[in-house]
Amino acid sequence: MSVSQSILRTNRLSVKYIVRQFSTARFLFKDTEPYRKILPRKPNLCVFCFNSFCTSNVKNFHSTNNYKHGEYEWQDPTDPSQIVNIEYVDRQGTVIPVKAKVGDNVMYLAHRYDIELEGACEASLACSTCHVYVDEEYFDGLPEPDEKEDDMLDLAVHLKTNSRLGCQIHLTKEMEGIRFTLPKATRNFYVDGHVPTPH
Ligand code: FES
Repeated sequence: MSVSQSILRTNRLSVKYIVRQFSTARFLFKDTEPYRKILPRKPNLCVFCFNSFCTSNVKNFHSTNNYKHGEYEWQDPTDPSQIVNIEYVDRQGTVIPVKAKVGDNVMYLAHRYDIELEGACEASLACSTCHVYVDEEYFDGLPEPDEKEDDMLDLAVHLKTNSRLGCQIHLTKEMEGIRFTLPKATRNFYVDGHVPTPH
């Protein structure tokens, strides 16, 4: 092995060692407050536009462009078999029925119907302004929240056992009749005062 090959191999091993140490630290300290401040989170880059604030790649749930930036939620269901009837309950207690469809994102769908579910970080899991309460009878049927969603929920005000982030919920046929209730208030620690407009 030449000297340059040997140097390259040593460098590669060093990188591997650092990555392994880093992974161990993530595992050991993931539930501690210092971990949140010191260790960076995995980037959540969109496979379509390479923007970390894009929602298309959230939880790797989507596979088509239809789910980009809430455009999908502005389309009416074309096939009756895709219809999912749901309800929102706004902060004043008003029940708002919505004829939704499979795959709709609960936050972007609320924007379409002018329901006050903010979504300040555009579903990048950097706020909790899309906080909703899910009907208890449907709550256990939802996919488990991932670590980032749990972290954000920890910071939400008026947290309950059936709290979830609306931007992480996509409708399925099994959610027929589900009700999402908005909490009395939310906290926006992402960009204070920033109110995004649906696009
Ligand atoms: Fe920020 Fe859902 S919109 S976490």
